[in-house]
Parts: sequence; C-alpha cells; structure tokens
Amino acid sequence: MHTVESVERIYSRYSGIYDLLFGKIFHSGRGQAVEMMDLSLGDRVLEVGVGTGLSLSFYPRNCKVTGIDISEGMLAEAEKKVAEEDLRHVSLQKMDALDMEFADDTFDRVLAAYVVTTVPDPIRLVREIKRVTKPGGRFVLLNHFQSTNPAFGWIEHVISPLTRRVGFRTDLALDDFARMADLNVRLIKSVNLFGHWKTVECVNIK
Ligand SMILES: C[S@@+](CC[C@H](N)C(=O)[O-])C[C@H]1O[C@@H](n2cnc3c(N)ncnc32)[C@H](O)[C@@H]1O
Repeated sequence: MHTVESVERIYSRYSGIYDLLFGKIFHSGRGQAVEMMDLSLGDRVLEVGVGTGLSLSFYPRNCKVTGIDISEGMLAEAEKKVAEEDLRHVSLQKMDALDMEFADDTFDRVLAAYVVTTVPDPIRLVREIKRVTKPGGRFVLLNHFQSTNPAFGWIEHVISPLTRRVGFRTDLALDDFARMADLNVRLIKSVNLFGHWKTVECVNIK
C-alpha cells in the first residue's frame, strides 16, 4: 500500500514529463469538471491535488482559487503556469489533502481531479473535503473508477497492485466508494476517452 510520502516521491519524480503523459489525453475531463462546479462570482474554490496546474486556466478570474498538492515537483510546474498565464486569482500551497490546514466551511466549491485513486485513504480525503466545504456547497470528483463490466473490472482489479507503483490504483468501484464515503451525488457524467472517466458532482450536506 502506498503512503503519502511514497506518493509524493512518485509524483515529484515525473513532474517534468507529467503534462506530456497526462495533459492532452485527460484535458476535456478537467474542463467539464470545472464547468460542473457551476462557479459564481467571488466563489472560494479549492483544488486538491492540483498537480502541475492543468485545470487552472479553466477557472474564471472572478473566483478566488487555492490549489494544494503534496508534491513540490508538481507544484513547481503549477507555479510556472500561474506566472506564465498571470493567474492572479490562484494561490498554491504544499499541503496534505488528507489533513488540511483550512478551517471548517472555508470553500464554496472543491475539485479533486484524478486524485481519489492516488491517495492511500480516499474515504478520509472525502471526509476532509466535506469538512472544508461550506454546508450546501459542492464538490466534484473527476476520476477513473473500476469498470462495472465484469471482464474489464477483473482486469482492473488484477493490475491495480502494479499501477499503485506508479501512483494510482485501478480497483476503486464508484458504487462502493459512494456508499462508504457517504457521498450525496447530484450528477454523474462520463468524460474522456470512451467515457471511461466520470465527473461526480456532490452536494455537501452536513
Ligand atoms: C494524477 S495527479 C492529478 C493532477 C491534476 N489534478 C491533474 O488534473 O492532472 C494526482 C495528484 O495528486 C497529488 N496528491 C496525491 N496525494 C496527495 C495528498 N495526500 N495531498 C495532496 N496532494 C496529493 C499528487 O502529488 C499529484 O499531483
């Protein structure tokens, strides 16, 4: 099982080539996830696991966006984008999403894009997201979940120990996860290649 420290090491190691590997191919999902957040003027937005900042250009400039990540290498790439694109409404911080320093009920909207399957404890991640999201606020989880097709699902279960070595798991089933994390799901949309990834919009009921 990976730890927060091992995840940090893995992502810092390939931060320099991350955009090349996972930029274009997963980009439409990022845009659709931000659209699903349905942002309003002045919203306080948190992106957990912001990585190299590939979602940042999608946020309207009239929101106040905070991006956190555990990997300094990934954050360094995100800082470059903030500077190059003059994203003054964005601030970045190194922080563990499983133990956030923010006060309760800080944010109107939260996004976790391709993050729930990279953390050692996805249930705890959701608990933290709920804590820092205002009551009635929303959060969007963009991710690949284990296929409901028995054959594909079995393959994803078998390869998961291998994919964990490069920073993510493939065996998290959305139904189980939604039940265990007590998600109040409002909407699910299929995105990216063949619709194999989902944007899951949740309402934060406390
Ligand atoms: C697959 S990348 C996704 C990056 C970005 N959201 C994107 O759209 O490409 C997962 C990111 O989550 C970060 N991450 C993993 N565990 C974390 C934790 N416990 N706290 C904060 N960030 C974490 C990793 O460092 C990495 O940048």
